[in-house]
Amino acid sequence: MTVAAPTFDLVVAANRLPLDRVVDDKGESTWRRSPGGLVTAMESVMKGRDAAWVGWAGEPGTPPEPFTDEGMYLHPVGLSPTEIEEYYEGFSNDTLWPIFHDVIVPATFHRNWWNTYRTVNHRFAVAIAEIAAPGATVWVHDYQLQLVPAMVRSLRPDVRIGWFNHIPFPPVELFSQLPWRRALVEGLLGADFLGFQRTADAENFLRCCRRLLNMSTKADTVTFTPPGDDPDARRTVRAAAIPISVDFRSLDALSRTPEVKARAAEIRASLGNPEILLLGVDRLDYTKGIRHRLKAYEELLRDKAIAPPDVTMMQVSTPSRERVDAYRHLRDEIERTVGGINGEYSDIGSPAVYYLYQSYPRAEMAAMFLAADVMLVTPLRDGMNLVAKEYVACRHDLGGALVLSEFAGAWHELHQAFICNPHDVEGVKQTIMRAVTAPEDERRRRMKALRKRVAVHDVQRWASRYLEALASAPAKPRRPTRASDEERRGEERANRSSQRALDNASERTEDL
Ligand code: F6P
Repeated sequence: MTVAAPTFDLVVAANRLPLDRVVDDKGESTWRRSPGGLVTAMESVMKGRDAAWVGWAGEPGTPPEPFTDEGMYLHPVGLSPTEIEEYYEGFSNDTLWPIFHDVIVPATFHRNWWNTYRTVNHRFAVAIAEIAAPGATVWVHDYQLQLVPAMVRSLRPDVRIGWFNHIPFPPVELFSQLPWRRALVEGLLGADFLGFQRTADAENFLRCCRRLLNMSTKADTVTFTPPGDDPDARRTVRAAAIPISVDFRSLDALSRTPEVKARAAEIRASLGNPEILLLGVDRLDYTKGIRHRLKAYEELLRDKAIAPPDVTMMQVSTPSRERVDAYRHLRDEIERTVGGINGEYSDIGSPAVYYLYQSYPRAEMAAMFLAADVMLVTPLRDGMNLVAKEYVACRHDLGGALVLSEFAGAWHELHQAFICNPHDVEGVKQTIMRAVTAPEDERRRRMKALRKRVAVHDVQRWASRYLEALASAPAKPRRPTRASDEERRGEERANRSSQRALDNASERTEDL
């Protein structure tokens, strides 16, 4: 006897579940928190809701049975080793990721990767359709699942579908390199509402609809006739910016705990109590600008503007996508650079750079944020960068200074940070020095304003704004009713007759 799966009014789908299953050498499996800002943000939104999360459990092979964790129903989707290679590492992270991030490294195109991407997207759509209650809300996340909205719509026309892009959406000139650009746009247009980090991202998407698919857009909506459908089944989809944030209150509370404060003091002490501790925390990704940051730091050491042990830097690089070539090369390059800097500028007991290729629990991250005098967030392109907001949320003491790239989505909200262009090494050096030498009252003023922004615009507000926008997005396919058909014909008649009147009037004017 097969037992029917439970159904839910809210179904979230993301490439990863919030937990990864890790199997150790002895074959024993444990669950570990998944990497990335998406999971951190969504976890806090999902807790306490009667909702389900569909995603990959992070390991190859048959997926584990669905289970409940902290009140959340987790529904694993399985990926074979080939699918991990072609859908996740290949199409998602070696084709789409570079195109969506200014082609910082070249994108790779393979038709078999695309076929696997379609197959896996369909598997996600089937899983969602299975557990969505009648009329449920389905919230799909990120670039790995761009075909899912249309696939879910064809399986379950009764549900409301939203998609949110955590990364930038590229300009049409880059997006159009994708041989599958049309199918991707049509996949997204299965949604009722498409959410983006910045208005510029939503505009880029709408421009793709106009320029590549000849669709008509008005303000933040696009109207089109779905392929193969009744020509009267026109739909309108809204695309707008709703920038993501962090769980301000819980990070603020965590960083105020005696344990985290004591750990922050311990970290500083074990680094030799430097006057200034610079900190970088990133997934090891070429979009994060780690090389550019290290170059600026190295030149400041070379120029003798700063020197250990008074000033030191800690770079935490979380392992990421380690089997993709571009990531492997980046790791080699960064580790070589760190080695070079330490060889040249460290002294016994006072290294110039502390480099940590590891991921850490939330409390340890909060302690690092509290310990750091200057936080360096200098991506070349980033959808949002939640590390910048996490740092701000942890600085309840109003200490610390944030150096922020203007190419991070966070820049659009965190104007009181010390802003830099990461491509301008001279500019980055100057900005770091401004942050290092800023008077305490200026730093406090800036931090206060930054905290105010993040406290009000937190992740809970983001989720409720998103769900409200989804609920009020243009409803169902807009089929012209008989009445509106008649209205339209009436309007056309009226237009024709007023045009005739105008023509007659102008003829008369010319006669005069
Ligand atoms: O938002 C970008 C993103 O790809 C998320 O989808 C993901 O949670 C995070 O970065 C980490 O990436 P990955 O899942 O490839 O390790």
